[in-house]
Amino acid sequence: MSTAEKRDINMVSLLWAGPELAGEIAQLHGRLFDPGWDEPSVAKLLEHPGATTLIGRTGFPKVSVGFAMAQIAADDAEILAIGVDKDWQKLGLGKKLVDAVVRSLARAGVKRLFLEVADDNAGGRALYEKCGFTEATRRKGYYTRPGAAAVDALVMSKAL
Ligand SMILES: CC(C)(COP(=O)(O)OP(=O)(O)OC[C@H]1O[C@@H](n2cnc3c(N)ncnc32)[C@H](O)[C@@H]1OP(=O)(O)O)[C@@H](O)C(=O)NCCC(=O)NCCS
Repeated sequence: MSTAEKRDINMVSLLWAGPELAGEIAQLHGRLFDPGWDEPSVAKLLEHPGATTLIGRTGFPKVSVGFAMAQIAADDAEILAIGVDKDWQKLGLGKKLVDAVVRSLARAGVKRLFLEVADDNAGGRALYEKCGFTEATRRKGYYTRPGAAAVDALVMSKAL
């Protein structure tokens, strides 16, 4: 099987994730974010009654390659994090994860979905814009990083 065939996102199943998958999600998160979330922190989020989390997994071999975590609070919900393993990026999996979360939240009666993304995160912004999110507000200099200039946080929203 060629590399291209191995990376067909139609072979990635989206599964609902509960606290039992906290370890897998923490590993994915840790490869994509600095600092990554540890397993107990992810488990705590997955135990929340409003947790709505999907994990993307290949069938054979069974490998987790992406995730999307959201949380419902009354009529609103927030995307807490989304990540796609580097080898699987730019193939449409991020959009597939966001679209699936959006459909599920809409069915649950959520009216508005929010998220926060760093202004300099070109991939994150492109994905969310592609999925119909627009800028709601901007938090000036929200992300501070050692030895680098602070970066704005964009709060984006989408009506469901
Ligand atoms: C952001 C992220 C989830 C995107 O996942 P992905 O599977 O590559 O996204 P998709 O393939 O579905 O791409 C969706 C759109 O965004 C565009 N896009 C994705 N990454 C991009 C990048 N780095 N720069 C510019 N555009 C990008 C794609 O081209 C696509 O648009 P198109 O359909 O017009 O081509 C992935 O890059 C990632 O995990 N990044 C690290 C974690 C992160 O920053 N998460 C977001 C903040 S929580």
